[in-house]
Amino acid sequence: MQRGSEAGSPWRVGVLFSQTGVTAIIERSQLHGALLAIDEVNEAGGVHGREIQPVIYDPGSVVARYGELAEHLLSEDGVNVIFGCYMSSTRKEVLPVIERRNALFFYPTLYEGFEYSANVIYGGAAPNQNSVPLASYVMENYGNRFYFVGSDYIYPRESNRVMRNIVRQGGGEVVGERYVSLEAGPDDFDDILREIDRLRPDVIFSTVVGTGTINLYRAYRRAACRDLGVPIASLTTNEAEVAAMGAEAAAGHITAAPYFRNIQTAANRRFLERYQRRFGTVSDVTSCCEAAYFQVHLFANALRSTNTTDTDRLREALRGADFDAPQGRVKIDADNNHTYLQSRIGRVDEHGEYIVEMEVTRPIKPDPYLVVPALNDWSLRLMPPREGLINS
Ligand code: ACM
Repeated sequence: MQRGSEAGSPWRVGVLFSQTGVTAIIERSQLHGALLAIDEVNEAGGVHGREIQPVIYDPGSVVARYGELAEHLLSEDGVNVIFGCYMSSTRKEVLPVIERRNALFFYPTLYEGFEYSANVIYGGAAPNQNSVPLASYVMENYGNRFYFVGSDYIYPRESNRVMRNIVRQGGGEVVGERYVSLEAGPDDFDDILREIDRLRPDVIFSTVVGTGTINLYRAYRRAACRDLGVPIASLTTNEAEVAAMGAEAAAGHITAAPYFRNIQTAANRRFLERYQRRFGTVSDVTSCCEAAYFQVHLFANALRSTNTTDTDRLREALRGADFDAPQGRVKIDADNNHTYLQSRIGRVDEHGEYIVEMEVTRPIKPDPYLVVPALNDWSLRLMPPREGLINS
């Protein structure tokens, strides 16, 4: 296993994002974020004169493949550090492989919380960083009758359990809850949309992921219940999926995330310029792409201090490590391996761009077990965005 002894040879890292299958749109954006950061590190001379070399596999959005490929990376390719995964079901496949070999896994995706592994660095939002702000924003602006629709796997079901508790805590109710298959097609939402028409919720909370997202938003645009004028609020719908579904289907809907492509920070402007140069477009830049990007930089900075990919040494170097990310300053919480993140509410405009309507004024400490349930936590108060406040 590579630990960093051979001078001049590259630092090999595993990169495990699907480029095909139902979650390819979002995972390709994560792959691009990771590759851009690797390029930046290498163009600046690498780490101790050695380049970072990605060993890339495409699991094809097939859940079991993530575990198999993680095993292959660790046992055959000799890597000790892996960046990867979008769906929580795929992270759960990788987790035992990583733990068994005491390797290090960077997970740049929002998720349902209630997990800790000493072998994982969690770079996406936990529920206290996105579900709580989204629920409080919706209840203040639309009402407290929620309808849940999600893809049928662990993240939507568990994240809805958390959201239901938050909604109840705020005096609201969940009037309906339905799940569709990961492969949900254009007609698979018809019954659900008829039920929404009948139940007349104040908001549709979507945890649908991947291509199903595109089909849901397009079906909603065609459905009778569209006249209710209620928004779809989500934690997963993102710029790349909006580009795929078209601005007409996405306009007016809401997402809560630490990062939106449109935010006005100096670090984000630099990031977008480099991304455009590298990939010829910024249409697929998302919060999960940005998380993959800053996690590679956090890793490279830690590697500079350890000069080895030994997990125990890297973990120690990553405790409390921070970075000026495009979203603002992020920091790994030494208590739980999750990340202090910004929190923002964005609404899609008529051109398909997320416009930030509210944001917190400082990064939120991750609380993956919701030890401090906090609908009324003042640290989460959302404010209208103040241009140039962060990082500029
Ligand atoms: C997810 O499955 N964590 C989006």
